[in-house]
Amino acid sequence: MNSNIKVLLTEEQIQKRVKELAAQITLDYSSVDNSIRRPVFICTLKGAIYFFADITKNIKRPIMLDFAKLSSYRNGTTSGEMEMQSDITTDIEGRDVIIVEDIIDSGKTLAYFVEVLKKRNPKSIKICAFLDKKERREVDIKADYVGFDIPCGFVVGYGLDYAEKYRELPYLGELIDPSKDI
Ligand code: IMP
Ligand code: MG
Repeated sequence: MNSNIKVLLTEEQIQKRVKELAAQITLDYSSVDNSIRRPVFICTLKGAIYFFADITKNIKRPIMLDFAKLSSYRNGTTSGEMEMQSDITTDIEGRDVIIVEDIIDSGKTLAYFVEVLKKRNPKSIKICAFLDKKERREVDIKADYVGFDIPCGFVVGYGLDYAEKYRELPYLGELIDPSKDI
């Protein structure tokens, strides 16, 4: 175990919560006629990969999966310009869309993505975020489903990185001192 990482959520805690969220989403979308227009679950790469995989496997209804890559964080913890590096390929017009995001911090990434998707006339857009750092919000955006609310520190693991490291950890940890990171 890396001494610069403090465990915040164990693998067991994460998996339990993910199943609860998936059950809730399954219930909320049970009236949708999935056979005609399956809801489209969009994974925001790369951070949401494990959360997205775990959530979608536990949705007990037919759905579609797609992927997008947006970027606000360049390296480490500093914020940069917003851009869409890779777009979804599904036509979402008239469909229910669920954006699956790793973490909402300032909210700028999601606000940008929601605006882009809205222009394509989906039937609905909902946001499912693994983590929510509410205190750091700079734009008015709320998730419909949240795994865990967390305080301000910088977290890694379960898909989330620090300069592309630690994504593969099955648990969530706080990076104690980024300057001591090796
Ligand atoms: P926002 O646009 O400020 O809400 O930033 C959201 C994005 O920043 C997330 O999708 C993450 O990729 C990244 N991010 C924000 N906070 C953290 C963190 O604590 N650890 C790792 N990535 C983070
Ligand atoms: Mg992200």
